[in-house]
Amino acid sequence: MKILVTGGLGFIGSHTVVELQKEGYEVIVVDNLLNTSLNVLDGIQNITGIVPAFEKLDLREKDKVQDFFKRHADISGVIHFAASKAVGESVENPLLYYENNINALVYVLQELQKKPEANFIFSSSCTVYGQAEKMPITENAPVQQPISPYGNTKKIGEEIITDVTKVSNINAILLRYFNPIGSHPSAEIGELPIGVPQNLVPFITQTGFGLRKELAVYGDDYPTPDGTAVRDYIHVVDLAKAHVIALQRLLNKKNTEKVETFNLGTGTGSSVLEVIHTFEKVSGKKLPYKIVGRREGDITSAYANTDKANDVLGWKAQSTLEQAMASAWKWEQKIRS
Ligand code: WQD
Repeated sequence: MKILVTGGLGFIGSHTVVELQKEGYEVIVVDNLLNTSLNVLDGIQNITGIVPAFEKLDLREKDKVQDFFKRHADISGVIHFAASKAVGESVENPLLYYENNINALVYVLQELQKKPEANFIFSSSCTVYGQAEKMPITENAPVQQPISPYGNTKKIGEEIITDVTKVSNINAILLRYFNPIGSHPSAEIGELPIGVPQNLVPFITQTGFGLRKELAVYGDDYPTPDGTAVRDYIHVVDLAKAHVIALQRLLNKKNTEKVETFNLGTGTGSSVLEVIHTFEKVSGKKLPYKIVGRREGDITSAYANTDKANDVLGWKAQSTLEQAMASAWKWEQKIRS
């Protein structure tokens, strides 16, 4: 079976391509290479021995998307990662995010709508919950108006998919990620560092390596055990495996609704200081950091209720925070060597 992975050379996309290939799927990857590099193909091949078919494609170009699907009519499923994902950048440049994250999604769905049946997995985010009232967060927690345009594109994306499935043969699963971290244990693929990292873990590993002077901890006055904000950090390989399981659910027609939603997290919340201490433990290094003011738009706490993913998908995150941080550190050292 041929599976299309859009944004398949990105951080989560590349790890998912590896897991798809391990399950015997034929994978074709499209990516516009704006936020990654072709070297990721080598990394994937070094892990699985198989180079996925690849086409450079910017999904914002509608005619090129139409042409692609004409040439690949035998695609059984699509896992859609292609999107811009930097929260801060989305505030400064909202139209880049609405064009890239929404137009691209619409053009792909327009092609899938023409098929007798289509299986679609959407990369969404826990950011759609905003600051949820109750922890851990379940899938029926209310979707709130996300603060950032990035988060809004995920909320709108989910709404578009829901509307389209009502009038088409598209079946969809929305995967709401918590905080993806780490790298493949082989250190052949990982989170590519482009510019100054916005996310916590790559900033920590770059600081640990000496590329950054110190980590700024955004606030220690939150109503949490140690005052720093709490998130659910999930190993990217665990996340990738969930995508394959979700896809198989659709391919095997096990879904009970046209659109199903799953939270993908570990179910455990970790504070910024706990992540720092875990890094220090796995690396043996003291991490220089300073406490500064809160970052605009940050929430206090978010961690997943994983019952639905455990019970319905039969999926559970396996890696600990320590293992995830160790893999992130191994990757940082590898790419700097
Ligand atoms: C985590 C915690 C920061 C950097 C966002 C998106 C989510 C997903 C992941 C794309 C927060 C603190 C961070 C730093 C810090 N997007 N922090 N110093 O904001 O939870 O989630 O990225 O995949 O959809 O919403 O992730 O890693 O930016 O921050 O103190 O230099 O670390 O305040 O508490 P976030 P993050």
